Amino acid sequence: MPIISISNLSKSFSDGTNALDDVNLEVNEGEIIALLGPNGAGKTTLISAICGLLKYDSGRIKVNGYDTVTEYRRTRKLIGLVPQEIMLEPFETVYDTIRFTRGMFGYPENKELLNNILQKLSLFDKRKQMIKELSGGMKRRVMIAKALSHSPKILFLDEPTAGVDVELRRDMWNVVGSLKSKGVTIVLTTHYIEEAEMMADRIALLNKGQIIFVENKESLMARMGKKELTINFQSPISSIPEALSKYKLALSQDQFSLIYSYDNKASRTGITRLMRDIASTNLILQDLKTSQSSLEDIFVRMIRN
Ligand SMILES: Nc1ncnc2c1ncn2[C@@H]1O[C@H](COP(=O)(O)OP(=O)(O)O)[C@@H](O)[C@H]1O
Ligand SMILES: [Mg+2]
Repeated sequence: MPIISISNLSKSFSDGTNALDDVNLEVNEGEIIALLGPNGAGKTTLISAICGLLKYDSGRIKVNGYDTVTEYRRTRKLIGLVPQEIMLEPFETVYDTIRFTRGMFGYPENKELLNNILQKLSLFDKRKQMIKELSGGMKRRVMIAKALSHSPKILFLDEPTAGVDVELRRDMWNVVGSLKSKGVTIVLTTHYIEEAEMMADRIALLNKGQIIFVENKESLMARMGKKELTINFQSPISSIPEALSKYKLALSQDQFSLIYSYDNKASRTGITRLMRDIASTNLILQDLKTSQSSLEDIFVRMIRN
């Protein structure tokens, strides 16, 4: 059974914006799923709907089998949310902030657990400081600590690394990795596609309130990823020689290279034949380079269409 199950979810705002348009999505227990998509695609709206923070027009969301509207208290308790915006009480201490949050979910104080969370986020030394004394990065760490204070089964991270320093990003991904190993389900949105590429098991692409696709990361990259072989010559080529006309080749801007695109999963890439045909011309090879398209290239291509 999926831990989150969304069916036919739609939401438009009073100004007519169609923020979610018949969204269907299932999230499996223990996976990391990345919601990707351009600004305004509906990622935050979708997360807000699952977390029960937004009234939607139609459809249904279940978390661990419970309805997020009629059984809100049960579903909310299972969820930790790190929202896009930092919202904290400036005159509270770090420790009290996370203790209160835990209390709001109906759990008694658990010093060992809370200190453990603070330690993992390098906040332990700051636990007695007031929020207003913290830097922006530290506040973001507190937001994560708050989301973890009631040991949620599902953690939502909405653009967690937008504008944060390298150190915090690394700490954050360490925390995410250790939560995953404990079986926590993680739903994240990010603008940094290479992060999704590194962390996620599955990728869902949103555009204009619709899910374009949901796919296992590896199979997506294998299916969509193209490989390119760049063949560099010693002198410029004015036009592609007749002997090579049967290949799909592109001439580089500086005219020193030919670029050959191929499917790296195919049984025959055509490279051997191409190299033999190049040898039959008077072109003199300088260098060879292969490159694989990243997830980013893939998405830019898809969203343009
Ligand atoms: N409270 C709101 N009122 C009106 N429009 C909204 C509101 N919240 C979001 N939107 C619109 O809904 C769309 C989706 O927004 P959002 O979910 O924040 O996108 P994302 O998180 O993918 O950038 C956007 O067009 C946005 O302007
Ligand atoms: Mg957003």
